[in-house]
Amino acid sequence: MSQKVTRRQFLNYSLMGVGSFMAAGAILPMGRFALDPLFQGEAQGSMITTSVKTEEITEEPVKVDFSYEQQDAWYTSEVTDFVWVYRDGDNLIALSPICKHLGCTVTWAGDDANPDKFFCPCHNGLYEKNGKNIPGTPPRGPLDQYEVRDSDGFITIGEMFENELV
Ligand code: FES
Repeated sequence: MSQKVTRRQFLNYSLMGVGSFMAAGAILPMGRFALDPLFQGEAQGSMITTSVKTEEITEEPVKVDFSYEQQDAWYTSEVTDFVWVYRDGDNLIALSPICKHLGCTVTWAGDDANPDKFFCPCHNGLYEKNGKNIPGTPPRGPLDQYEVRDSDGFITIGEMFENELV
């Protein structure tokens, strides 16, 4: 038994085929774009090596810059940040420079009257060297800590966590 395809059926099939092909060409890239962050691999390790030599670190806190890639949905950008790093015996300590009052940047020995403390110039906040907020000044909590290590002679910075020194 032979089945004849009418001219109308042939035209319908042809249009459906071409339409499907064009729809797939438009939808697949959009799907890939929407799901792209799910297919991105995790960052390689969480420690960031800086250009500061570990042997340069003393008991006096110094500013240590570090950079990392920040993923904001589909947008990747390079962010530069810094921590205060000092040596406490055999240990390296890294503290966040972000004030726990309203988020200004604290400096070491930034106040002439308190040369051995972290100082926040925004509202005269003060912190001990270990990050403990000094009662009577605006900050309500200690400076956060960062994981810090030596890696082949250079300071490496890891995750931030709540201060465990105070
Ligand atoms: S933001 Fe630091 S004391 Fe207010």
